Amino acid sequence: MSKVQASDVAAVILAAGQGTRMRSKLQKVLHQVAGKAMVEHVLDALAQTGVARAVLVVGRGAEQVRQALGPRVEYAEQSPQLGTGHAVLQAQPLLAGAVETVLVLYGDTPLLRGETLARLLALHESRRPAVTMLTAVAADPAGYGRVVRDARGRVAGIVEEASASPEQRAIKEINSGVYCFRADWLWPRLGQLEVSPKGEYYLTDLIAVAVGEGEDVETVLLERADEALGINDRVALAQAERVARARVRERLMRSGVTFADPDSCFVDEGVEVGQDTLILPNTLLRGRTRVGADCVLGPGTVIDNTVVGDGCQVIASFLESAVLENGVRMGPFCHLRPGSHLARGVEMGNFGEVKQSYIGPGTRIHHFSYIGDASLGADVNVGAGTITCNYNSETRVKSRTVIEDGVGLGSDTMLVAPVRVGARATTGAGAVVTHDVPPDSVAYGVPAVVKRRRRAADDSQP
Ligand code: UD1
Ligand code: CA
Repeated sequence: MSKVQASDVAAVILAAGQGTRMRSKLQKVLHQVAGKAMVEHVLDALAQTGVARAVLVVGRGAEQVRQALGPRVEYAEQSPQLGTGHAVLQAQPLLAGAVETVLVLYGDTPLLRGETLARLLALHESRRPAVTMLTAVAADPAGYGRVVRDARGRVAGIVEEASASPEQRAIKEINSGVYCFRADWLWPRLGQLEVSPKGEYYLTDLIAVAVGEGEDVETVLLERADEALGINDRVALAQAERVARARVRERLMRSGVTFADPDSCFVDEGVEVGQDTLILPNTLLRGRTRVGADCVLGPGTVIDNTVVGDGCQVIASFLESAVLENGVRMGPFCHLRPGSHLARGVEMGNFGEVKQSYIGPGTRIHHFSYIGDASLGADVNVGAGTITCNYNSETRVKSRTVIEDGVGLGSDTMLVAPVRVGARATTGAGAVVTHDVPPDSVAYGVPAVVKRRRRAADDSQP
């Protein structure tokens, strides 16, 4: 991708609007698409171009936006919010005299690609018109500003839908909301914009101003109109989500990942998956999840912020902030809660839950177990229904359980923490272990007492 001279360009990103049509407490640009806030998509695309300086114009929900993005951008405040032209004007004190080119972006267009921005900047830098704008031909242009051209095909202006004539509404070429301006031309013009019938100062009016002054206006046409999708309501948000998810899956498929049913699988943008991994239906990979090669995930698996090694199998399970080394086999119906670390070759079966625990290599937890705040060694066999009783409700203290290598825990063992079971020790079925068990020993007891029913004879009476 061609990079521009970073010091000559600054971006202004608009994110101050009311976003009324979202009907949300959350500022519009913070709504997520493929697991990432819309405005972060815009900033990430921008970062790919080499433009280093970005001013985010905030207003409605400014605090939320500042908290979400931190010092990654500079901020300008717009209050009250009097339209997109007025919004760009708020960045002038920060940028006037500092840069030659101002790239304006809207925070609600999450599908824009970095290479598109680079293409726009390259054209602008080579010709230096007053403005270069990005347009698209939309199948359904409803809601967008239309690009009006004269008989010879030259841009005459942008007309917003509300003030468009029926003929203008039929125009399919739309304004994507991305523009490069020559800074020396832009700044004095912003303050002279006329107020629209709706009481706003439209940035889009600047196109007709430039044309009227005999300035050049260049356009770059998007090859794929979906990149221009502007999110004004939750219907459009769902549309963007679909496109963004499809892009992520396509990237993974091209890198050697198989999806048995792509449309039913959601993968967040930052997720990485290795070659020859098979993703079965209804599987979600989210956050900072990294999956190795040759795995089988799903059907029906949700993996959040988890590192999965090579050759793992995870069927119908839910994993949160966990680590799986190579060759782990899980499911169906396992739950790994944060801080679970399963070493190489661990097997975990039906209805197991692990939290804040290390499970050593080759250890097997096959049925109905809870392992919390524990450390298990290598080749431990955890019998069905084994529970680490990690919480003392009287002292309100959580304690750790340590199980050394080669231990065999009988079915329904209760390990009352703090407790340690030494290497190769075994426990009997139903053992309630309250004291440390030395290596190579057996802890057993509490057999059920059998007695006859006292009135057994009466039972047969009607
Ligand atoms: C805008 C364009 C339209 C274009 C479309 C592309 C104008 C007047 N219209 O329409 O031509 O086709 O985007 O998606 O520019 N904002 C502020 N301050 C304000 C008003 C808006 O910061 O006072 C921000 C919003 O937060 C948003 C962006 O500017 O991120 C665009 O505003 P929005 O109201 O969504 O404009 P559209 O009606 O979509
Ligand atoms: Ca919009």
